[in-house]
Amino acid sequence: MKVTVVGAGAVGASCAEYIAIKNFASEVVLLDIKEGYAEGKAMDLMQTASLNGFDTRIVGSTNDYSKTADSDICVITSGIPRKPGMTREELIGINAGIVKTVSTSLVKHSPNTILIVVSNPMDTMTYLAHKVTGLPKNRIIGMGGALDSARFKYRLAEALGAPISDVDGMVIGGHSDKGMVPLTRLATRNSVPVSAFISEERLDQVMQDTKVGGATLTGLLGTSAWYAPGAAVSGLVQAIACDQKKIFPCSTLLEGEYGLNDLCIGVPVVLGKNGIEEIVTIDLTDAEKAHMAESAEGVSKTNGLLEL
Ligand code: NAI
Repeated sequence: MKVTVVGAGAVGASCAEYIAIKNFASEVVLLDIKEGYAEGKAMDLMQTASLNGFDTRIVGSTNDYSKTADSDICVITSGIPRKPGMTREELIGINAGIVKTVSTSLVKHSPNTILIVVSNPMDTMTYLAHKVTGLPKNRIIGMGGALDSARFKYRLAEALGAPISDVDGMVIGGHSDKGMVPLTRLATRNSVPVSAFISEERLDQVMQDTKVGGATLTGLLGTSAWYAPGAAVSGLVQAIACDQKKIFPCSTLLEGEYGLNDLCIGVPVVLGKNGIEEIVTIDLTDAEKAHMAESAEGVSKTNGLLEL
């Protein structure tokens, strides 16, 4: 199993590290445009191998795509992150050009690859990758919902005073502060709806805290987060690499599902060796449907800024 990660910055390196530590891939290629940067990160990570007990070989490359040839999975994290006060949508000007070049270069060298798009604005970048590579929709996956759901579970556990492993919940919709749709109705603590434990007001606060989860961290760190994004990507990569058939909310091209068409947005999908094995349809309430429609409108508006 060969995995390429483009962008050896904060998220890319964190993702490469989690993939290596989980020890399911034979090789991880880390590629960056900055001279020597990916080689340096790869060497540093390889020097943790004996300490962390993994055999995955991590190779660095300065923009040499021949090293990425025949990758089973390619992850795109290249692009600028937001600074405090910025929205993800404001990154489109620079990141669209980067994602376009990177995705076509990757597919040229690995025509059978599965692409995971992380760069923001992620739903629009996933749609762009779909348009420019022409890969079948099961092989283009946007990562956002897995991270947002992890943040939702963190906030839920905090509000419930419960261990995180006892809590389950999912965020669908667009990967933006306004676009996220945390499904509080379906969130559970040991299979019991969380509404049995906390008030509607507290649950509403959890939802608001989840939606601004990325912005809160950007305010604290001065740039966007990397540990949870890296871990979320590695979860998707592992589910595909090990054919786990696990369900994650991912951004995928919708063709009528959830009443939506011609956009990529977060919905639950089954991940396995073919990438997206299945889109899972949940019966949403009228309020959730309205929230989802509003979210889709925001994503389509951002997609409209693309020069296709
Ligand atoms: P970073 O600045 O630490 O790293 C980005 C790396 O991309 C840099 O090392 C840069 O040299 C490289 N790069 C730029 N253009 C390139 C090109 N054409 N080819 C190869 N490499 C290139 O940024 P960070 O924090 O790693 O974030 C990366 C992206 O991921 C941002 O767009 C950020 O908004 C996004 N992000 C998305 C998340 C999600 O849930 N979808 C979560 C966190 C970040």
